[in-house]
Amino acid sequence: MSDMPFPDGPRIDARDKVRGATPFSADNVRPDILHAALAVAAIGKGHIVSLDIRAASAVPGIRLILTHKDLGHVKSTGFLMAGGYGFQSLQPMLSPAIAYRGQPIALVVADSLETAIEAAAMIQVSYSMEPVSVTLDAPGAETVNQADTGLEIIAGNAEKAFAAAPLKIDARFITAPQHHNPIELIATVAEWQDGKLTVHEGTQNAEAVRHGLVAALGLAPDRVEVISPFVGGGFGQKYALQMQTVLVAIAARHLGRAVKLVVPRAQIFHGASFRPAIRHRVRLGADRSGYMVAAIHEVDAQTSRHDLFPAHYAALSSRLYGIKNFRGRERFVRTDVQTPGYMRAPFEHAACFALESCVDELAYRLNQDPVALRLANDTRTDAISKLPLSSRHVGECLRRGAARFGWSKRTMAPQSMRAYDGSFIGWGVAIGAYPCFIVPVIARLRVTADGGVFISTGGHEMGQGIRTALAVAVGRKLGVPAANVVALIGDTRASPQHLTAASCGTASAIPAASDAADAMLGALARLGASPGQTPAQILKAAGRASLEVEIRKKAPGQSDAVFGQFASGHLSFAGPVYPEFVTFSYAAHFVEVRVEPTTRRVRVPRVVSVVDCGRVISPRTAASQVRGGVVWGIGATLREASEVDPRYGGFLNADLSGYVVPVNADIGSIEVEFIDKPDLKFNSDGVKGLGEVCMVGVAPAISNAIYHATGRRLRDLPIRIEHLF
Ligand code: MOS
Repeated sequence: MSDMPFPDGPRIDARDKVRGATPFSADNVRPDILHAALAVAAIGKGHIVSLDIRAASAVPGIRLILTHKDLGHVKSTGFLMAGGYGFQSLQPMLSPAIAYRGQPIALVVADSLETAIEAAAMIQVSYSMEPVSVTLDAPGAETVNQADTGLEIIAGNAEKAFAAAPLKIDARFITAPQHHNPIELIATVAEWQDGKLTVHEGTQNAEAVRHGLVAALGLAPDRVEVISPFVGGGFGQKYALQMQTVLVAIAARHLGRAVKLVVPRAQIFHGASFRPAIRHRVRLGADRSGYMVAAIHEVDAQTSRHDLFPAHYAALSSRLYGIKNFRGRERFVRTDVQTPGYMRAPFEHAACFALESCVDELAYRLNQDPVALRLANDTRTDAISKLPLSSRHVGECLRRGAARFGWSKRTMAPQSMRAYDGSFIGWGVAIGAYPCFIVPVIARLRVTADGGVFISTGGHEMGQGIRTALAVAVGRKLGVPAANVVALIGDTRASPQHLTAASCGTASAIPAASDAADAMLGALARLGASPGQTPAQILKAAGRASLEVEIRKKAPGQSDAVFGQFASGHLSFAGPVYPEFVTFSYAAHFVEVRVEPTTRRVRVPRVVSVVDCGRVISPRTAASQVRGGVVWGIGATLREASEVDPRYGGFLNADLSGYVVPVNADIGSIEVEFIDKPDLKFNSDGVKGLGEVCMVGVAPAISNAIYHATGRRLRDLPIRIEHLF
């Protein structure tokens, strides 16, 4: 049975979602709730000189205006990636200093949302302004070498091997900053009861929000709970404590009423993390057969003045193939922005675009088929650690994808394939990889005599389908329908919640839930189960109302200390390098583009993606996740860029009319296939991550297809019509 694919079943929350019945954080309304709005800085950098709230306070219905003058006792909770809890270390409104355009300067609370917005606009502020640096090459942007912070990837002697390589590619790439735009806006509902704070907020990291509030407000940990059963899209944006959450909690305490803040989309462009601007230089050396012998990947990654957002670009390019001589060099460029963060395939998307563009260029230099070249460079061993890869089926992804796409009909020369309407047809391919992480999980499984099955575990449902995967995995083992299994997740009351990101969710939660189900089967057997009985029947026969088991699960090589660490809101990732192996998920993407010869309009009518994510637990939500990743890949390659104003700072196109994402008419056929081979070295269910790998490689597959269609090798993202003239 373990080799049988899991059956395709519906998403268990699908019916509620299409009916609008799924409760998101901002849906927590009650008659006496108060509404908040933020006023934000209108300068790129400097200081508040004067701030006058008299007119704003006079608006009828105003309950409270908080400014930097009121928050003396509050502490910054620190940057999550530096051991704190926030998406950045800078907590706005602790001083009159302004670090970036759009930084909150006041929180206004009123009886109605309209009143709060009106009053926020009436706050009078004067500033002293300082020059801003918001681009990678701005004067005043400060460069810091990441090697000084201990992160550097080196194997063999890349310089020497590159110099000696008969074939050399040397190319520079730039990828624009981009912003997440999940449908659910960032929203907080905070309420205090008997000195206890409850926060309803869509987040990927309920425990960091909880402990961040504990730290900011100086509370005991048992005084705060964070509830986030559904997130309307995370994508990395909601990976840590948001800065406004602290402000809303303070306002609610002050007023003794529940307060709700929904951050409008325009403010999110400055109020949450984003994908930073990146500059790459890749040098790739190969022998005359096309075997890659050396690569040097140098990256300059934008960060803020106040935090160094870690850069892991070379982590992907060093391991996508088995290149024996590799040097990665990552530098930070400090600019006057909020701290950037994780956005789906945060490093891998851009790093893979750079490397896989070079690999395509190499194929053309050799006049070798790009699929064949990649297959010839496949590996079983991790080039950096020399450890075996626990599984790698990227060759199979390429072969199956090529067959399904009809790749053998491709003619190699650029501009050699034309459509009936004269459009240039381009077929491109690229592979992608994503590191497989595991985080510690405490899972509790409870069954009741009236038929209830409750699995409480770490994990946040942001649409990726983790609730469905949990229900399928537990239901299958206990012999109950998935629809009867209730997953209690994203809730600090249910179980400690590690950050759900970096595609760790399923690979961490499923093996724990699955072990819990096994433990439950054992416990039920001890109660005297007979074959074919449901858990409820067994409990009834034994005269028991309920039965509960608990499983604690961690990654290979992790010590038991991680359980305390993650329960206090700190990151506890393991991987992709484990004591005995290295684990990545893989994908191969095949893309058809059509470039209209006069307008140069690029269409993507067809994509075939084949993914190696180990065992597929929930085929329907998994396929849907891959389609989402491909759609985002199309957006990231052909549409999305956050435009900056080098004179005044901030992001200019801070809404969905100016920040262009793909719409239905931009998306053609996306065919998804899974290798579906469990990686049982990685975990007992053989599950690897999926959410991010499915986007990695889409960008180079598209740009390689555009090269094939037009003969133009484009190295900056996004690619737009004007770059094709
Ligand atoms: Mo993902 S960018 O790690 O939520």
